[in-house]
Formats: sequence, C-alpha cells, structure tokens
Amino acid sequence: MFFKTDALAQASNLQVDGKLYDTDKNLINAHGAGMLFHKGIYYLFGEIKKGTTWEVPNQNWEDYRVPAGGVSCYSSTDLKHWKYQGIALSPVTGDQANDLDTGRVIERPKVIYNSKTKKFVMWVHIDKNDYGYAHAGVAISDKPAGPYSYLGSSRPNGQMARDMTLFKDDDGKAYLIYASENNMTMQICLLSDDYLSPTTKYIRILENQHREAPALFKWQKKYYLITSLCSGWDANPAKYATANNIMGKWEQKGNPCIGKDSATTFNSQSTYVLPLYKNKGAFIFMADRWNKTNLEKSDYLWLPLTVTNGKIEIKSAETSVR
Ligand code: GAL
Repeated sequence: MFFKTDALAQASNLQVDGKLYDTDKNLINAHGAGMLFHKGIYYLFGEIKKGTTWEVPNQNWEDYRVPAGGVSCYSSTDLKHWKYQGIALSPVTGDQANDLDTGRVIERPKVIYNSKTKKFVMWVHIDKNDYGYAHAGVAISDKPAGPYSYLGSSRPNGQMARDMTLFKDDDGKAYLIYASENNMTMQICLLSDDYLSPTTKYIRILENQHREAPALFKWQKKYYLITSLCSGWDANPAKYATANNIMGKWEQKGNPCIGKDSATTFNSQSTYVLPLYKNKGAFIFMADRWNKTNLEKSDYLWLPLTVTNGKIEIKSAETSVR
C-alpha cells in the first residue's frame, strides 16, 4: 500500500499530537486504529470508546475498561480531512454471551481488501472483562466503509489472540499477527486465501518478551514489526524486530524512538504504520496516547517514521519537521 500523489507527498510531514476532528468538527473516535487505502481513499478504522471508564474489580492488574462501542470508520483523500463514515462494525447491547456486546472487549480492528473475492475483511481482538477469552474475530463487507457482517471468533490453532494487526503482502497472502500465550509471545499466522480463517501455518516469535500492540510493515523486501511492552494502558518503550521472511526468522532490535520521551514512545503505544510513497521509505507511525481513567478522552500521536539502512527512526514531535 503506497501513495504517490502530490497531496500525499506532503503527508510525510503530517503530524498529529492530541485530538483529531472529522469534517463535522466532531472528535474522531478511532482508537487502536488501522488504515486501509482503496481506490485513492484512506479509510481509518478504530475502536469506539464511549462512556464511563471503570476499573474491573478483583484483577491482579490495573484493568480499566470502557463500554465496547464497536468499530468506527472515517475516510480521507489527504490524511488531514476526515469524513465520518459511520459505525463499520456495530456492537450489540444486553447480550453478554455475544462477542460484540458493549460489555465485552472489541479492540485493535484492522481491515484489508481481498482482490480475489472482492471483499473487505476485518480482524479484531474480541475479549471478556478479564481478557481471558483472547479470541480473534472476523467480519466481512462488500464496501470499504462497511457495514461489516460479523462471522465469529476463534483462537487460531487453539492459540490465544489479543493485541493484533493484519498484514497483506505483495503476493496477496495475508497474515494475522497477535500477542499470544498470555502475551509471552507474538505469533504470525498465514490466513486462508479468502482471509477469513487462520491456516495451520503459524510461527511463534519474540518468545518470553512480553510484547503487544503490533504494527507490521515491509520496506525494500524486509519486514519490520514494532511492538510495545505490556503495561496495560501505561506507556512503555517500543522495540522493533526485523525479518527477511515474514515467517521467520525475526531478530529483535532496539527502540525505534529517538529523543526526549523515547523511553515511553513519546507517551504513547503503537497501533499501525502507514507506508506513504514508494521508493522514499516514508511512513507514518500511528499510536494511541491512552487516558486510562477516561479512555474516551484518549489522544492520538502520528509521527513521521523513516528507515535508513534497515534502521527505524521515529522522532518526537518536538524534534521533527512540522
Ligand atoms: C494494552 C493493550 C490495549 C488494551 C489494554 C488493556 O496494553 O495494548 O489494546 O488491551 O492493554 O489494559
């Protein structure tokens, strides 16, 4: 997914630090977001966090929660003006047994297009209050902005799936990347040709490293995977790993962030990396700045990301060009 137009060339300087508004001047509500580029339009998908944040009792970690509002969609042609497209994946109310109930967890939605089936496919983390369900949910639509029909959820190959992302490779194969084994590993699983189910082909990577919030991209035949450490909604240092083959072997590198506050990913957590235009190696690092006691008020951080000789650099808003 690369972009070449003039409007997008400027986007290499695009930065977001704080709130994002749509063209109706409403706050954009799209957290743990991902991006789809289709026929000249960007589609931003994210978690709708709306309502009172509460702390789940009797947990051995700080588990703040907000009602799961489903998945929103916004569209743009320049990455700056975002038109609200509505709810791409609707939640249901009053049915705790339903994966999409507002009392459950619906996080980190990502969408890719299947050019063979001509369907848009969304994968999303589905969970319960205690995050013990750890399922990957899948939904499908004929149109990029949806509405998406929910097909159900599973544990790929019996493996837990929490924070996740999707990656569609140049050969059309697609992969689900998810924190697994109680967040002790990441796994990368090849999806079926229609992208609707996991295949049995998967690998375990970053073993015992306790990583989450995966964001995977490819540049000059190399794969890059940015992750965060696990510390709930609190910010921590990012790290990245690289591989010449998506199915391994992955090598863990250092922190891609540079400068002030790099130890907290500039007080944010990764969610997606958007490639900007071909042959220049310009990307946007998209992250969430969580407000754990009022999750609806969580902010966004989008920063330019560069790759030089296989090394990722993300500079803080203060040090990079506006
Ligand atoms: C984060 C994770 C978020 C959310 C949160 C719950 O670490 O990246 O997506 O699940 O934990 O505390």
